[in-house]
Amino acid sequence: MLAVRVYGKEDLRIVDVPKPKIEKSTDIIVKVKAVGICGSDKAIYNGSNPFVELPRVMGHEFVGEVSEIGEKVRNFALGDHVVIEPISYDGTCYACRQHMPNACANLKVLGVHQDGGMQEYIKVPAIQLHHISKEVPWTTAVLSEPYTIAGNATTRGKVGLSKTVVIQGAGTIGQLSLRVAKAKGAKVLISDVAQEKLDFAKENGADAIVNIKKDNLLEKVKEWTKGEMANVVIDAVGAPATFKDCLDIAGVAGRIVPMGFSNAPVTITQQPIMQKQLTICGSRHQTFQFEPIIHAIEDKKLVDDGMVNQKFNIKDVQQAMDLMDNDPDKARKIVLLFA
Ligand SMILES: NC(=O)c1ccc[n+]([C@@H]2O[C@H](COP(=O)([O-])OP(=O)(O)OC[C@H]3O[C@@H](n4cnc5c(N)ncnc54)[C@H](O)[C@@H]3O)[C@@H](O)[C@H]2O)c1
Ligand SMILES: [Zn+2]
Repeated sequence: MLAVRVYGKEDLRIVDVPKPKIEKSTDIIVKVKAVGICGSDKAIYNGSNPFVELPRVMGHEFVGEVSEIGEKVRNFALGDHVVIEPISYDGTCYACRQHMPNACANLKVLGVHQDGGMQEYIKVPAIQLHHISKEVPWTTAVLSEPYTIAGNATTRGKVGLSKTVVIQGAGTIGQLSLRVAKAKGAKVLISDVAQEKLDFAKENGADAIVNIKKDNLLEKVKEWTKGEMANVVIDAVGAPATFKDCLDIAGVAGRIVPMGFSNAPVTITQQPIMQKQLTICGSRHQTFQFEPIIHAIEDKKLVDDGMVNQKFNIKDVQQAMDLMDNDPDKARKIVLLFA
């Protein structure tokens, strides 16, 4: 069967590998139908993802159909449509005992530490699968995983009814966080440097948009919140400057959710954290988000609506990576489809 494997920097090959076999009675073999490409896949391809072990079959955003089941699996049947939860954890470390398995000391992620979804069939423990209605198209179902990232960020930020939320960055994570925050009843202002992304955010429910090339974000937030500043700030850019700005954008008792991986140092002062009693909370992958997100997708409270704007056959994966590399603004979400 076909698999897409990265061997090194910009060295991606379509290879022929044996089809997986059930090994444990709790295993399921999934016939993969669609895989989304994420910024972190691009980083694996570009050789800038420090967490990946090569060679590796990429893909942590994927969906498919149950094709074989181990004899102890009870809750899945052949042909079921499933979304795969890409993370697994030991269940025993401190983070796991604090109900934060997404920060597990022994976290494993499909497509990063273990082979992922860019292959025709994959063996996954049943515990990592979630049902999704057959009525949801594959290209929408595949947004479940990135939507869970937004689900986690908004949960960490305690986004709820009538909260004022500022999202910095209207890329994939920013756009999905906007939709989840709106579904949770918040008021959202979103910023970016690209007008086209802001226009798309406006079409998708943003209450206010700010192009930081034209306007001062702090002034706009001040106006928008009538001086109160934001209850929640989600940094979906992850640059030192955007992180630094979060402390000023947040109002009293505000919550700040930085999403980025940057290890560049940032100079911040303690005073606003003390004075406004701010909470800065990390958000890594997700935990316990698949079920509510999938239900919201099934109920059409979370939709696709143009997020998936690039589709390729898996055999054209090189073209898809080139697009992501050379023209990232053209791709809100690229999805690879298996014929
Ligand atoms: N914590 C997690 O679990 C997790 C998961 C996925 C992605 N991320 C991180 O989230 C961030 C966003 O990811 P993405 O896939 O949406 O990236 P993306 O590249 O699609 O989006 C980033 C957006 O930020 C905009 N931007 C750049 N500078 C800006 C500024 N100063 N102010 C406002 N907007 C600005 C860009 O124009 C772009 O639209 C990245 O740092 C990524 O590493 C975190
Ligand atoms: Zn653990």
